[in-house]
Amino acid sequence: MDDARRGGWASRFGFIMAAAGSAVGLGNIWKFPYVTGAHGGGAFLAIYLVCVFGFGLALVMAELVMGRMSRRNPVGAFKRLAGSAWPAAGGLGVVTAVVILSFYIVVAGWAIAYLVYALDGALSATDADALNALFRRLTGAPVAPLLYAAAFMLATAVVVARGIAGGIERMSKLFMPLLFGILVLLVLRAVTLPGAGEGLAFFLRPDWSSVDIGTVSAALGQAFFSLSLGLGGLITYGSYMSPRQNLGRDALAVVLLDTVVAVLAGLMVLPAMMAAGMTPAEGGPGTTFKVLPAVFAAMPAGRLFSIGFFLLLTLAALTSSVSLLEPVVSYLVDERGLKRTTASALGSLVCFALAVPVSLSFGVWHEVTFAGLTLFGLMDFFASHLSLPIGSLLTAICLGWVVGRPALDELASRGQPVAAWAPVWLFFIRFIAPFAIAWILIQGLIPG
Ligand code: PHE
Repeated sequence: MDDARRGGWASRFGFIMAAAGSAVGLGNIWKFPYVTGAHGGGAFLAIYLVCVFGFGLALVMAELVMGRMSRRNPVGAFKRLAGSAWPAAGGLGVVTAVVILSFYIVVAGWAIAYLVYALDGALSATDADALNALFRRLTGAPVAPLLYAAAFMLATAVVVARGIAGGIERMSKLFMPLLFGILVLLVLRAVTLPGAGEGLAFFLRPDWSSVDIGTVSAALGQAFFSLSLGLGGLITYGSYMSPRQNLGRDALAVVLLDTVVAVLAGLMVLPAMMAAGMTPAEGGPGTTFKVLPAVFAAMPAGRLFSIGFFLLLTLAALTSSVSLLEPVVSYLVDERGLKRTTASALGSLVCFALAVPVSLSFGVWHEVTFAGLTLFGLMDFFASHLSLPIGSLLTAICLGWVVGRPALDELASRGQPVAAWAPVWLFFIRFIAPFAIAWILIQGLIPG
């Protein structure tokens, strides 16, 4: 597909909403609170913030630069910018997108199911046992969660099939402001809950005693996942950016929005969890679903709040899932000559097929483990601890060492001089990011 016919963002605001929509998702609202809980709270938050602003921001800019420079999907971008030895780096990204999508749609399906429960008034239980049982009944069922996952995959495919400006951008411009509105209301409610203090202290006051290299590796993986880094999703989004756009400033806006939402989600979930007498370390993937309904049920207009929350979760998931499908689709369109609709359908079918065993791994196949991990655990580990860091490492090496100085001109918007801080960014991408990521990656893999 030639560059002009690939399409592009219609406006700067549209791009920011789409890219923030990609970043803000289940990673922030569903995953961040339980991962923070599992790794000790405040200290994890501090290390996470260092990862986001120390590495994440620079790498977000790196992916966007690679995309805008090459006007290609991840595979094509590495090929155009670095030659024939590199497309495998983009290929790993496309495969990783498929892997993440296949568990992402399962969890997003739960969000839809809970939205249906909330609308039905079926979330009125306040005791933990009843909510546990509800969660287990849904996720342990063989068929129902797959139907919800299928509905979610279909919605994702329809949006992606409609293209960049007409599909992804249009949806994000509508949903993202709505999402921020709902979130602010919910947080105001959660932090004024009786008993919120202990959870707030756990989340905000660092306790360094439990920190080890595993904490750092988990924080880095979470930062990459949350910022949509390491699989070329942002390369793809960058490939539709206007050359006139101020890339550095817009990247900063996206990173800030993502971080604010993660912190707000932590403020919402962790206090509620501790107020309900749960230990943060033991929450796991069910945390959000088990904890918040109890909070909503116990307060005035709770049903409205629970509808709002699960709507928020579903919409946030959708603006992210399109950014997981888009690199796969743009690869099939650019490199394999498929039509966008065909590519969206094909990509979705493959992801759904993979989602079947993932969904079952929460129920009947719970006992089937690999090195102590369920299939979901394994895929999550592959993505966050291996593939996303490796993808970011390769991006940094490619941009810093193969592309080199021309990246600085691409970072500046067309007709503008290179910013004074830009060489510092390139220095960081060249000399610091690759070594730091490689070190954390290797340390994180050594069983401790
Ligand atoms: N950032 C998304 C989230 O936090 C997930 C995602 C990862 C999206 C990688 C695209 C690429 O939910």
